[in-house]
Amino acid sequence: MLKILDLFCGAGGASHGYALAGFEVTGIDLKHGRRYPYTYIRRDVMSLTVKDLAPYDLIHASPPCQTFSITKHLRNAQGKGTDKLDLLQPVRDLLIKSGKPYVIENVKGAPLHNAVQVCGSAFGLKVRRHRLFESNIALKGTDCHHKQQGKPVGIYGSMRDEIPGGGHTAKTIDQANEAMGIDWMIWGKLVEAIPPAYTQYIGIELMRQLNAG
Ligand SMILES: C[S@@+](CC[C@H](N)C(=O)[O-])C[C@H]1O[C@@H](n2cnc3c(N)ncnc32)[C@H](O)[C@@H]1O
Repeated sequence: MLKILDLFCGAGGASHGYALAGFEVTGIDLKHGRRYPYTYIRRDVMSLTVKDLAPYDLIHASPPCQTFSITKHLRNAQGKGTDKLDLLQPVRDLLIKSGKPYVIENVKGAPLHNAVQVCGSAFGLKVRRHRLFESNIALKGTDCHHKQQGKPVGIYGSMRDEIPGGGHTAKTIDQANEAMGIDWMIWGKLVEAIPPAYTQYIGIELMRQLNAG
């Protein structure tokens, strides 16, 4: 079984998709891993060296994205601000140095290289949650099916908030989990997660190419 290391794994949205695609998953995050469903290592990603990555076939990284997110403006307007550091480039440097196949996932607006975009509407989800994927393996993004999707459910900021321009953030935690295709996260984790369908889709293609040699 191919082994993937999920850096900045949070509560495991991305990890779960890779597991569904058939990878053996290990996650690393600074926070406690109580809600994380796979093998978990609590550690600062910035302390990792190339040697730490050696046991894995593939590395995924979802560095904190608040620096680039368009919802940053909403958060600022709500007085919540953001003081997160940009960890993207140091992590990219480590991944390139490792020589391993890698994927970096982030929000629209993040400075990813040759990234493809994935949209929740392509999987029949009620979130749009556009996310970019950079990789040293050729990947394809998805189309958007916003019209067929109808009004999306927002999973950011606070629950039951009006969204400027129409619509609302999720009204209940069950609605939020269903919209994301997740059933084990609290709101604070859901707002940071990606739907597992995204990395299941990306993971199936990675698996195909890695197995082809
Ligand atoms: C965007 S979230 C990841 C969400 C995850 N990809 C998912 O789909 O559920 C970013 C995570 O990075 C973690 N984090 C931030 N800085 C870190 C660091 N230096 N080392 C390890 N984890 C870190 C945070 O605790 C947070 O869980």
